[in-house]
Amino acid sequence: MQTRMFRRPLLVLGGLLLSATAMAQGRVIYLENCAACHGLYAAGDGPVAAVLVVPVPDLRRLSVHSAGTYPDQWVRRVIDGREQILSHGDRYMPVWGSEFWLREGGDEQAEQAVLARIQDLVDYLATIQVTD
Ligand code: HEC
Repeated sequence: MQTRMFRRPLLVLGGLLLSATAMAQGRVIYLENCAACHGLYAAGDGPVAAVLVVPVPDLRRLSVHSAGTYPDQWVRRVIDGREQILSHGDRYMPVWGSEFWLREGGDEQAEQAVLARIQDLVDYLATIQVTD
């Protein structure tokens, strides 16, 4: 009885801790790979932004630009970028799917690590969205 009563809150707590860890992880990955262009606070004002020929987007406004709902699937695909190579258009942002894959060793197992890293980034960006 006792254990059953505590199981659910413990599961919830475990889930919260896990997502808090993922967010912290995402922030670290962000600072290492993205802040140079997108800026420390993701406002699109990193030091490298000044030398690019295209504007670097403000990543705090992804929800605002998507009618108030964080477009997580889209964000995941944009960061990954591997799909876009096959379609069209110039892309100034590195293709993180390939980049992370190479860094992880470039084999089948590396793919899992790539998806996890990108998910951490997607989750982190979700936490910094503004409402206006
Ligand atoms: C070399 C500079 C550079 C780096 C580093 C960079 N980006 Fe970008 N990012 C851009 C530019 C420029 C765009 C606009 C689209 C384009 O031109 O490719 C963009 C677009 C985006 C978008 C789409 C936003 C929108 O509103 O259209 C997301 C999401 C994004 N970047 C996330 C990231 C993440 C996450 C990282 C780190 C893993 C990262 N970027 C690293 C330059 C960069």
